[in-house]
Amino acid sequence: MLPTAIKEILTWEPGGQPCEVGGWVRTFRSNRFIHLNDGSNLAGIQVVVDFESFPAELLQSINPGACLRVRGRLEASTGKGQALEIHAEDIELMGKAESDIQAADFYPLQPKAHSLEFLREIAHLRFRTQTFGAVFRIRHAMTFAMHRFFHERGFYNIHSPILTASDAEGAGEMFRVTTLSAEQPPKTEEGAIDFSKDFFGKPAHLTVSGQLQAELAALALSKVYTFGPTFRAENSNTTRHLAEFWMIEPEVAFADLNDNMDLAEANLKYLMQYALDHCAEDLAFLNERWKKEEESKKKEERSELDLLERIQFVLKEPFARVTYEEAIRILEESPYQKKKKFQYPVQGWGTDLQSEHERYLVEKVYKRPVILTDYPKEIKAFYMRLNEDGRSVRAMDILFPGIGEMVGGSQREERLEYLQKRMAEMHIPEEELHWYLDTRRFGTVPHSGYGLGFERLLLFVTGMGNIRDVIPFPRFPKGIAF
Ligand code: 4AD
Ligand code: MG
Repeated sequence: MLPTAIKEILTWEPGGQPCEVGGWVRTFRSNRFIHLNDGSNLAGIQVVVDFESFPAELLQSINPGACLRVRGRLEASTGKGQALEIHAEDIELMGKAESDIQAADFYPLQPKAHSLEFLREIAHLRFRTQTFGAVFRIRHAMTFAMHRFFHERGFYNIHSPILTASDAEGAGEMFRVTTLSAEQPPKTEEGAIDFSKDFFGKPAHLTVSGQLQAELAALALSKVYTFGPTFRAENSNTTRHLAEFWMIEPEVAFADLNDNMDLAEANLKYLMQYALDHCAEDLAFLNERWKKEEESKKKEERSELDLLERIQFVLKEPFARVTYEEAIRILEESPYQKKKKFQYPVQGWGTDLQSEHERYLVEKVYKRPVILTDYPKEIKAFYMRLNEDGRSVRAMDILFPGIGEMVGGSQREERLEYLQKRMAEMHIPEEELHWYLDTRRFGTVPHSGYGLGFERLLLFVTGMGNIRDVIPFPRFPKGIAF
């Protein structure tokens, strides 16, 4: 039989009920108090050992990291720090962990503060720390809440492919997938690599987005969303970029850009409310962690709000909705621009906004999330709907404090001729996307969607500073351990 989850036992009444738990030792104090955690919650449970009743050899093996199965009785605790504790009657050492620093098999997670950088190097063990336990319980809760949000609104989840022959974003930052020999690939008569001999008979890649396929589904099922891994080979070594990240991409038939903004705002707020309602213990812990982090920063860089206050604030304020044109005007007239504080000065219409500009708008001007709309067509993907002005498209980016871009989306170009014209301008061959163009040939309709970066959302909710710490095994340039 499985042991009972500690989280569940903590809801029981004390008074000597028999119980059985299994978990990993955090600490063992005074040869008497074991702090045991099974990952079902943050706190774990205290196991009290009467050392005379157990063999000394067993007690010596109860080191941090060891796995135990404990049978005992649940009692009210007289010590401070916990209401309940287990008085052990039987302890089984399932797996030992070595505490002697000289030993070759020394367990690296001893009960002391470890830096996040160090924990990233031992990402296979970091699940066992309080911080990562909290982060990954929240990640699960946010996954569940995401599906619930869309399910409640009548959306269908679509599994879009991971292998693809098209470049949805046209950004050319894709990982190639091939079974051709790296040393001696077959060549054409002209000397180029002959992809007709490759597995799919043509070049294939890992997808950067499930959007194009989601659009096909939306033009039949009306409301759909994808939630899957996406891959970008951009060489961005930042705290906001991963080479493999998870994205949620809803797509809605009959929706215009305003409907799209409303959905995205409701989506983000629903997730934050869910976190507050269901992850209180983990969030309280991460909030304390956050406050400590903030204290170590320079005064002017500290946030006025703590983690929980920041989430609550975002929940109650409507997001600001501003056009790109207006944002450029604000940035150009800003004291930052005048005092040359931007690393990349804003240079009028057409400037591709950098994260310093996005954060300035959010943190200094509006002091809440901002939805920027109607970007110049030149800096956005081919599929966005052209505005009447002929130079801007129905794009929207949602910018968040401390993070920058959280969501990117648009109303799609549903008019066949406009789409063909734009593809020609951007040198995208029609043959490659004939299936996409077919939706504009057969029963086309205005429709809209967006992509929400799941790890960026988790950065905001958990208050972690680096995106590599909210995904179990981060992939980034030169980083693919585990
Ligand atoms: O703005 P992006 O590139 O949009 C798309 O891929 C569209 N096809 C979405 C759509 O309309 N269906 O990416 C969407 C979001 C970004 O706003 C950001 O949150 C996240 O994905 N993102 C990344 N997250 C982590 N690491 C990266 N390298 C990311 N690139 C984008
Ligand atoms: Mg984007």
